[in-house]
Amino acid sequence: MNEETKKITELIRKAVEKARKETSSEPEPGLTKKKLDWPIECTVGPGLEGAIACESSIGYVNGSKGWLIYSGYDIFDLSINSTYEEVSYLLLYGRLPTKKELKAYKDQLIKFRDLPLTMRTLMGFPVEDMNPMAALRLGTEFLRQKVSHRDRNINNADILNIIGSDEDSIPMETLPCGEEHAIYEPKLKKDKLIMEKYILDEAIGYRACHRLIAGLPTIAAAISRIREGKLPIAPHPSLSHAANFLYMMNGVQPTEEEERIMDINLILHADHGMNASTFASMVVASTLSDIYFSIGAGIGALNGTLHGGANERVLQMLEKIGHPDKVEKWYKEAVQKKEKIMGFGHRVYKSLDPRARILAPLAKHLCSRNSQSRQLFQIADKLEKVVVSTLGKEKKIFPNVDYYSGLVYKAMGIRTEMFTPIFAVSRVAGWTARVMEYLQHNRIFRPRAMYIGDFNKKYKPISTRKESCK
Ligand code: ACO
Repeated sequence: MNEETKKITELIRKAVEKARKETSSEPEPGLTKKKLDWPIECTVGPGLEGAIACESSIGYVNGSKGWLIYSGYDIFDLSINSTYEEVSYLLLYGRLPTKKELKAYKDQLIKFRDLPLTMRTLMGFPVEDMNPMAALRLGTEFLRQKVSHRDRNINNADILNIIGSDEDSIPMETLPCGEEHAIYEPKLKKDKLIMEKYILDEAIGYRACHRLIAGLPTIAAAISRIREGKLPIAPHPSLSHAANFLYMMNGVQPTEEEERIMDINLILHADHGMNASTFASMVVASTLSDIYFSIGAGIGALNGTLHGGANERVLQMLEKIGHPDKVEKWYKEAVQKKEKIMGFGHRVYKSLDPRARILAPLAKHLCSRNSQSRQLFQIADKLEKVVVSTLGKEKKIFPNVDYYSGLVYKAMGIRTEMFTPIFAVSRVAGWTARVMEYLQHNRIFRPRAMYIGDFNKKYKPISTRKESCK
């Protein structure tokens, strides 16, 4: 660890110390039940607020204490000590990996990063004209290729064409490192059962999860480059998940500090309870569609400005405010117009979001390097103070994860339109983990709506219906 990365760890340690001090008076949660006796009773508000949809041991969010837990481990400890590879393994398998397990997992991610066939297919589309999240969803669908739960006809001669035999190449700025790494897989055996298991694993199993976790960064980085008028870059097999992602986006190997900061970002965004995009993924999975469709649904839900799309809107808002001296006037007007302040508020957190606690000092650190980003940080800092002293007091509205993440990315030279795709690159770990967990005791999601419409209306032929005049 060099001096710069040590400094980053120190900043997080201080933020964690402060968080623990400030929330020490909040009661810790009691022991959770190991099993629920279904059906259960709970009070449900609009937007399914308060509804308990399933049991999970993947993650826990405590809104009043500002706690975020992944499989029993505090996000604060994971941010200081762990890596995205380890955290995604933890989410998927419920425990930290041993050295050997982590190596095998990392090796598989490295292998699955390389997606020439998916890239070639994606590049046949006008990615430069598409919304990056739409392109990411499309790329995810191409990652699926021919294998799905529905496609599993083990007698199908086409089986040899399934994903994995993906060593074709596309134009790249660096030499594709496909050849030595491309392994024709699976090692197809004629044994029917093995083949069936393999296909299922590719469609709804852990291999598919690994492919998605490894593949989304490659697709997102390619989208970023194509939109800049550049060619995608082949993944670098000796770089970590975070470093390789930055490398594939920017074309240069990141510094240790940049790698660490991206890694922390990916850790912080990896899972977050039954948020809208996770739920969307789970709903799709519950129909026994396949995991690629599920993740596509997650990407679609994350895109919205009330969810992952807020990080881009935050930056636009800060840029629009333009100067720290204009914050109060801008805020007054926004309140008068009853506008929502992007990057604030949360369905669960009624205290400061622990992820924002970590990202704020990182943003400050990175933004101090040039006058333009320093000014943006000052605007953000001032706006936070104004919002917390008003909405914070009145409605317990505090900064959420999206408030500072954009400033961090911007200071790292990442373009605004990539902020939400980066969120997806991380959250795919939570989506896949929760889908896999839910599928173990799957029951199709099927809530009800309260019908408040009319009954007994008499059908009128179209010729008798009056046009409403405007
Ligand atoms: N700015 C101003 N007022 C707000 C904000 C905000 N950002 N968030 C909530 N409020 C107010 C609402 O106007 C409402 O006030 P009222 O009771 O007087 O009508 C009250 O707080 C409750 O707000 P809801 O929108 O009902 O809260 P909900 O739990 O449904 O929504 C949400 C949570 C969507 C995050 C909301 O706070 C919001 O829109 N925030 C801005 C967008 C944002 O930052 N999203 C990212 C969330 S984090 C994530 O998804 C990764």
